[in-house]
Amino acid sequence: MLPFLLFASAQNPEMVRLEDMDLSNVRQGWGNPMKNKSVDGHQLKIGGASFEHGLGTHAVSVINIDLGSDPVLFRAMVGVDDEAGPQGDVDFHVLCDGVEKFNSGVMHLGDAAKAVSIGLKGVKKLTLRVGNGGDEINYDHADWADAMILHYGSQPKTMAIPVEKPYILTPKPPRLPRINGPEVLGARPGRDFVWRVPATGDRPMRFTAKGLPSSLRLDKETGVVLGKAPRRGTYTIALTATNAKGRKSRKVDLVVGDKIALTPPMGWNSWNCFATAVDEAKVRSAAKMFVEKGLVDHGWQYVNIDDCWSIIPHSNDPVLGGPQRQPDGTIRTNGKFPSMKELTDSIHKMGLRAGIYSSPGPTTCGGYTSSYKYEHKDAQAWADWGFDYLKYDWCSYSEVLKPEGLGNLQKPYRDMRAALDKVDRDIVFSLCQYGMGDVWKWGAEVGGNCWRTTGDINDSWDSMSGIGFSQNGHEKFAGPGHWNDPDMLVVGWVGWGPQLHPTKLTPSEQYTHITLWSLLSSPLLIGCDLTKLDDFTLNLLTNDEVLAVNQDRLGKPAHRERVVGDIEVWTRPLADGSYALGIFNRGDGDLDARFSASDVGLKGSARVRDLWRQKDMGVMTSMSVKLKSHGCGLFKLSSVR
Ligand code: GLA
Repeated sequence: MLPFLLFASAQNPEMVRLEDMDLSNVRQGWGNPMKNKSVDGHQLKIGGASFEHGLGTHAVSVINIDLGSDPVLFRAMVGVDDEAGPQGDVDFHVLCDGVEKFNSGVMHLGDAAKAVSIGLKGVKKLTLRVGNGGDEINYDHADWADAMILHYGSQPKTMAIPVEKPYILTPKPPRLPRINGPEVLGARPGRDFVWRVPATGDRPMRFTAKGLPSSLRLDKETGVVLGKAPRRGTYTIALTATNAKGRKSRKVDLVVGDKIALTPPMGWNSWNCFATAVDEAKVRSAAKMFVEKGLVDHGWQYVNIDDCWSIIPHSNDPVLGGPQRQPDGTIRTNGKFPSMKELTDSIHKMGLRAGIYSSPGPTTCGGYTSSYKYEHKDAQAWADWGFDYLKYDWCSYSEVLKPEGLGNLQKPYRDMRAALDKVDRDIVFSLCQYGMGDVWKWGAEVGGNCWRTTGDINDSWDSMSGIGFSQNGHEKFAGPGHWNDPDMLVVGWVGWGPQLHPTKLTPSEQYTHITLWSLLSSPLLIGCDLTKLDDFTLNLLTNDEVLAVNQDRLGKPAHRERVVGDIEVWTRPLADGSYALGIFNRGDGDLDARFSASDVGLKGSARVRDLWRQKDMGVMTSMSVKLKSHGCGLFKLSSVR
């Protein structure tokens, strides 16, 4: 007998189906909540059984329901939808006023649906939660089939997700000049060199550079440095910036040798905002925004085109189709990129660098022409066009070689390395193969300057934090010239084009994103539409003390020092002998937490500086901090001696 019958009165209870409630309040890790359909829009199906009614969602998902005045019963059939892939495993939870009443355990693709039936008498709030089954959220298509609430009183309603208001922590830079950015730059002898002195402060500003090799020219008004890298050696350049308020100097070491990317590349990439909708105008306007919004003053430098600039094989589309290559084998751009050379020239004139994308397979992930069997031709074309960065994405290479065994995994990257070594240009080589074969262990050996350690990020807490917090242990493999890459930033307006939306990360989650990526020495590639940069996003991207952690010349990424419940502490040493410490709250509620000088190995007390607020906190043995849900703090600790 169903429990609700126990409450039976003269009247039968009313029924409200989960999928008929306001689904705008459903939070989920990927896609949208679907009424009577799976998250991919198919008939709901669990373990071979079809359901007419229910809600298709995706881990990690949370729905809070205000149960109204007289609830009776919640019931549902739960499981992984049959459309999910083999990695689809999830766990379902039902909480009554915060107390767990049902836990499905980890459920896998093909498992029969589990029945849930929970009496609700006296309960005010029902929480339906889907976890990721203990791994990443890939293919975690989760169904609440036949889910309903029986009630007598007022109608149960989903509860709005509380919205966190943006809060700005980064102080405005002083009006006096200040030179920012890395303390060390790498280049190879005789190669084209492009840089722009990153400096904040009132304009107009004038720049001088003592010790600048004679093969390089400094534009005194803009701080743009162009020319050829000199002979091997370390050149210490004393830069000075002067404006009406005063002058400031700083030294930067130009190390000319075999290595480039001595600090993690910082820039922008078209994928997370425009995806297939990218075109030359959008890339030009991104570059323009680097200057107009002042990103260049903080060291942002690379303007990178991702997928979708070449020809789509066999396409009848007049813009995207046509011959894939010139008669001599040179790769052709599609109609959206009429002149790569003019584009990179204009980027270089601004003191910025340009990036391009390809795959070792016959086509890119988006189905565009890529470099299989044309590695040398393509490397030459990119060098001729003036590109400074190549993201090389595995994609269709599985058609050539199975992604098995180190030999196969490394081959395409060794091949492209050999091709890049033949061209007369410094090109950052960014490996993208989603972490296969523990790429961090051999990415440097095959000549990568950085390598993606994971699958694609999206703008959800579960994706970003799942990737970010799983980087522990990789730090041993990174250092100047070769970096772990946990994928691009998802702050600002993102959306994989043409439709964009503001990131779904809360403000606190965005602080965690930038803090963690800075601690990890990750390449920082902004993924948003820069024409839509708002003050909050700009505050995230222009904190010079936070960026200095990412750009620290010692190049030792952070590791997880300790975990206590929802609190994690990550630390790293810095070149000046101090330490950076990030403290994170991964929990759903605000928390008080504490860190100590001993977390970074300092005995007794430490001088503490809050990097986001750019404020000295004093000398202390330990410090307590208030951390918002999914938020963090970033501190610099130095020895008092
Ligand atoms: C893969 C990569 C993404 C992006 C797309 C382009 O998914 O991981 O970063 O480059 O391909 O198609």
